[in-house]
Amino acid sequence: MSTASQVAERFRPFGASIFAEMSRLAGEHRAINLAQGFPDFDGPEVAKRAAIAAIERGEAQYARMIGVPELCRAVAHAWGAGGRFVVDPETEVTVTTGCSEGIINTLVGLINPGDEVITFEPYFDFYTAGVAMAGGTTRCVALHPPRGGGGEFWFDESELRGAFTARTRAIIVNTPHNPTGKVFTREELSLIASLCLKHGVVAITDEVYEHLIFDPARPHISLATLDGMRERTVTLSSLGKTFSLTGWKIGWAIAPPSLTAAVRACHQYMTFSSATPLQHGAAAVLIQPGDYAACLRELFARNRDVLGAALTRAGLRVHPSHSTYFLMADHSALGYGDDRAFVTHLIREVGVAAIPPSVFYHRRELGTPLARFAFCKKAETIDLAVERLKNLRPSGA
Ligand SMILES: Cc1ncc(COP(=O)(O)O)c(C=O)c1O
Repeated sequence: MSTASQVAERFRPFGASIFAEMSRLAGEHRAINLAQGFPDFDGPEVAKRAAIAAIERGEAQYARMIGVPELCRAVAHAWGAGGRFVVDPETEVTVTTGCSEGIINTLVGLINPGDEVITFEPYFDFYTAGVAMAGGTTRCVALHPPRGGGGEFWFDESELRGAFTARTRAIIVNTPHNPTGKVFTREELSLIASLCLKHGVVAITDEVYEHLIFDPARPHISLATLDGMRERTVTLSSLGKTFSLTGWKIGWAIAPPSLTAAVRACHQYMTFSSATPLQHGAAAVLIQPGDYAACLRELFARNRDVLGAALTRAGLRVHPSHSTYFLMADHSALGYGDDRAFVTHLIREVGVAAIPPSVFYHRRELGTPLARFAFCKKAETIDLAVERLKNLRPSGA
């Protein structure tokens, strides 16, 4: 067989995952990894104990395709505890292997070849890959950096209106938003909802950072709760970010039965089901979350401020982050060129790893002045990164 790449054409535009690449480079140079978004500490005891108990009870076989009943009920309970409408755990909840699988299931289950899907850029890279797997086309609407003076990432209403065409099947809305830390406002969501209703479009929301909100004045709002949206929204979330259990890969999709059918149509052939003991652990912590998320919010808000101040001292322009555990900073004043050149210098010479975010844009040039930093780490890890950032100098200095 030829040694030429055997990768199918639909995957060629995507290349290797930037997270794997930056984590590898960080390892090689012993850099503090603020690139990939995973915590360097453990999740809640209640989840671990329940998962261990499930293993010891012999819960070792395939789980039910839609998710173990305990977890489906716990997801419905957690959703309702946020003051939202009541969902039926049997017909409106599907457990997936992380939100990542939920994204692929929803897109592949819903999209026909030739359909268009709108998303905001920068985007989580699974969206565009998922649309491509489904044979659809992505149309991007830019989230622009703040113009200054404490503003935040924003989009142009006419660009969003113009993105809706006769072929639009769905729009993906990630709020709170990775990588910008933006929380979409009620006004922005109302505009999106009105366009979905006008054009008969399905909304797919990615809400994995729903509990990592730093500013009570900017609460997270689920698009499905807006008038007319329950019937046309697939809401995706997962355990990983809220409970520092990213490696468990337990997620879920909440949707009315007609849309749930699309999610399950793909899920049954994608993975069929997710790890049984971990589903029991997830159910336990969703029912008894305690104050885990509140402690995380306190730690992450502190980390964001400390890291942001260090980056500002080093000469970057730090954009506000109201949520998630990422911040975006403009490095262009330091003179290293594009985001890859800057991040490579940062990893090799300073010992701190970040992500070059141009890979999250169709219009790559929108991302080249920026770098994304993850602050979901112990305070001492961030403090060590801050010490190292004192060695960051403008290019040529
Ligand atoms: C916006 C967004 N959606 C989904 C995911 C993946 O979630 P999971 O780990 O549950 O698959 C991530 C992880 O980084 C993310 O940032």
